[in-house]
Amino acid sequence: WGWSFLGWSIVILSPAALLLLLLLHRQKCSSNRRLPPGWPLFGHIFNLGTMPHRTLAAFKQHHGPVIWLKLGSINTMVILTAKAATDFFKNHDLSFSERTITNVMQSHDYHKGSLALAPYGAHWRVLRRICTVEMFVHKRINETVSIRRKCVDDMLVWIGKEVHSIDVARFVFLASFSIIGNLMLSRDLVDPESKHGSEFFSAMMGVTEWSGCPNVADLFPWLGWLDPQGLRRKMDRDLGKVLMIVSGFVKERVKEMKEEGDGDQERIRKDFLDVLLQFEGGGNDEPTKLSDQDLNIFILEIFFGGSETTSSTIEWALTELLCNPKSMIKVKDELAKVVGPNRKLEEADIDNLQYLQAVVKETLRLHPTIPFLVPRKAIHDTNFMGYHIPKNTQVFVNAWAIGRDPECWDDPLCFKPERFIGSKIDYKGQHFELIPFGAGRRMCAGLPLAQRMLHFVLGSLLHEFDWELDDHVTPEAMDMKERMGMTVRKLEPLKAVPRKHPAV
Ligand code: HEM
Repeated sequence: WGWSFLGWSIVILSPAALLLLLLLHRQKCSSNRRLPPGWPLFGHIFNLGTMPHRTLAAFKQHHGPVIWLKLGSINTMVILTAKAATDFFKNHDLSFSERTITNVMQSHDYHKGSLALAPYGAHWRVLRRICTVEMFVHKRINETVSIRRKCVDDMLVWIGKEVHSIDVARFVFLASFSIIGNLMLSRDLVDPESKHGSEFFSAMMGVTEWSGCPNVADLFPWLGWLDPQGLRRKMDRDLGKVLMIVSGFVKERVKEMKEEGDGDQERIRKDFLDVLLQFEGGGNDEPTKLSDQDLNIFILEIFFGGSETTSSTIEWALTELLCNPKSMIKVKDELAKVVGPNRKLEEADIDNLQYLQAVVKETLRLHPTIPFLVPRKAIHDTNFMGYHIPKNTQVFVNAWAIGRDPECWDDPLCFKPERFIGSKIDYKGQHFELIPFGAGRRMCAGLPLAQRMLHFVLGSLLHEFDWELDDHVTPEAMDMKERMGMTVRKLEPLKAVPRKHPAV
């Protein structure tokens, strides 16, 4: 992203003006010991490198647990340690409970209907309540076991047909997408026969890609109208398409509901779309109904939230297990003992699979797929750890750096699931050294479902198949480089050979 940015900057600024600004700016910065020197106008953009979570983690040594950056015209605070994160979430959560809205997410007014991007207020509260009380409560998740069973079975059949190495994340992504499609809309969107399924899927792929691309217009909002990288145009196109398709799904359902009942009898709730359509606000500042636009956006958001996060995490988990054969043996032994050779893994087994749970935690510690969480924003001028924080400052909580903080973790860079056996540390927002789902008011709204999917899908892949690397790849030579997008994925997709477990 540095290069496309550089190109634009050369067009926009003359070198002479740049030099003058540089001199003035360096003078100003030198009075602030904590601030690494930045460039005029650009601030610290060039200091970030291609993997900002890694670069910023390295800043800790010289600049302390909290650093202050200027990214273009955006004030940015970065939190790098569990101790600072504890103070942030325990004492300042409310002051930072808004989100930064990127340029592409304003396409079709997405941000106005979104839960993840909503300002902290009535609209956010309503959507959040629907998630926590109606959609992601354990009772409802338990009622939909058979849906996940069917989607995972389909995935296992697809994989079972493969004889060579497969792109594991692709299969898991399809399964996750299918789970969300069925839970949300009772539709098999990955079925090639599905009407609108493939169109929806490919447009969603576009939306995911454009939303994860770094955009010059976010650093210099005054460049927004120019759309220098063409991202907004692409987003307008693909988001417009998915919104239209989703709106068609919703209209179909409303028609079905009208035809089914004359309004006297309450329809038995079927899926999340029914929950949303049957929502009635509680008065005061809440809307009585969700508008059509809000409803369509909310549906998309659940696809965003649940698909790539799950597939990236499982890809990292399997990669780590293939690189750490002792851990692979332990997790498979546990599955063999608890589940046995004659049946499939069920969600009900998860509670008895301590080592599998530890593998998931250890993967999320080393590879939080949203390393800066979803950036927060200061609602008003405030103070944090002795700093004055102006209103609208964006905050990156570096969950990646925190998960590798040597002050919290022994041998922080090693994959050792054992560290969680007998430990109370969990990722549910109470232990700030492990926050892959965030913490506080805005922490992941889908955590109970994510937890279920991660263990069930990963456990099934491990129980059903023995996994091997391609002949030319050794665990030592495994490429662990990352790729930034909406989530942090493996740069080189994991290719592994599934060998059907002879006993199952
Ligand atoms: C491995 C799986 C997942 C990971 C690592 C993950 C991570 C996150 C993170 C880091 C945040 C921001 C938290 C913060 O700002 O403190 C978040 C927010 C959110 N996540 Fe997840 N997530 C996952 C799965 C899911 C699933 C399955 C869903 C829904 C089906 C979901 C829905 C959401 C929503 C709606 C928000 C916005 C919450 C708000 O702003 O109030 N996520 N997630």
